[in-house]
Amino acid sequence: MNLDLLLKSGVLPDGSKADIAISDGVIVAIETDINSEAGETIDISGNLVSPPFIDPHFHMDATLSYGQPRINKSGTLLEGIALWGELKPLLTEEAVIERALAYCDWAVSMGLLAIRSHVDTSDEHALTGVRGLLAVRDLVKPYLDLQIVAFPQDGFYRAPKAREITIAALDMGVDIVGGIPHFERTMQDGRRSVTELCELAAERGLMVDMHCDETDDPMSRHIEQLTYEAQRLGLQGRVAGSHLTSMHSMDNYYVSKLLPLMAEAEVAAIPNPLINITIQGRHDTYPKRRGLTRVREMLEYGITVAWGQDCVLDPWYPLGTADMLDVAFMGLHVAQMTSRSEMRHCFDMVTTETAKIMGFDDYGLEKGKRASLVVLDAGDPIEAIRLRPDRLLVVSKGKIVARRSRTDTTLELPGRPSVVNRRFTRKTTG
Ligand code: FE2
Repeated sequence: MNLDLLLKSGVLPDGSKADIAISDGVIVAIETDINSEAGETIDISGNLVSPPFIDPHFHMDATLSYGQPRINKSGTLLEGIALWGELKPLLTEEAVIERALAYCDWAVSMGLLAIRSHVDTSDEHALTGVRGLLAVRDLVKPYLDLQIVAFPQDGFYRAPKAREITIAALDMGVDIVGGIPHFERTMQDGRRSVTELCELAAERGLMVDMHCDETDDPMSRHIEQLTYEAQRLGLQGRVAGSHLTSMHSMDNYYVSKLLPLMAEAEVAAIPNPLINITIQGRHDTYPKRRGLTRVREMLEYGITVAWGQDCVLDPWYPLGTADMLDVAFMGLHVAQMTSRSEMRHCFDMVTTETAKIMGFDDYGLEKGKRASLVVLDAGDPIEAIRLRPDRLLVVSKGKIVARRSRTDTTLELPGRPSVVNRRFTRKTTG
């Protein structure tokens, strides 16, 4: 066996140790003690090796635009949308591509190798972003999978041209049908938009991923219509509701009816904890609602739930680093998922669970799967969430795309070790 790359003694997410042999972009063996010749052999002993991180919810047309043309003073979703409306006419395709590529560089360095990005399709100005992201999808394809969602940010019916432009974007090759029913003029229009957009997806054989009920209004129940349409149109397993923050405030009896219907229709959920905890509850005094959807309850019903990042340095969010472990860390806290099994599942919610939503069937650390992975300076998935550690090695489609050496801290304390192991385990070195 002549290998391209051989990784020795990695710790897999399930705690077992294995060597990983890679050839022609595929994992050809994953077992203990592989001793074949390889173009490069790397000892990763003691380090967690995971399939790459995946972000199921992002806005790449807006990323890294923070401060253009001004900063969101109120911090609300609505001011963010208004601010984006001011920026849109100023966009150029070159600037969109330049920002998106810079973000993808950050993503690769963090072991984030697949992203589902919404792209605004509300008006002609937004088409600049559509063209830009379609170009970026091709440019990054050798190392990063970008799925693009047609997203009529200003309302599929509410914005005069959004319906036409959304359909045009799908014709141009955008992958997935999005929507924003809670932003339409009426509940009724929101419901109609869900129906028409799901029908569009069914006709074209596309997946659906809607911003759905991103509000604190307990009566915002568009997830019900989305679930109904998934069932009616045979879209089971191909529909996701993003945010679903109104569910936080819904009546408990109503939710007890809703969740089994979501499970039956195989509708997935994508909460975005960094953004939900920042944006929701802004109209509350105290007690102030968290606004995160009911993650643990959905998991109990067997609904697939994956953490999304949503925003990095854009009109809605002033921070972010493309690190899906930051997202899992925040989600774990806000959803109070602190048991060992829940913390462990939070790691899956930025890796394997997300792969299910994205429809990837060649994902995972198994023989015959695509050779994409990340090596972390941590011993296991829970430690990875605790530390958000260095990504020591990132491999995409069989090729090394990022390397980093461990960062330790040199101490200057009398009578103490000179180096602190930045893993923050009890073991110190030096
Ligand atoms: Fe979003």
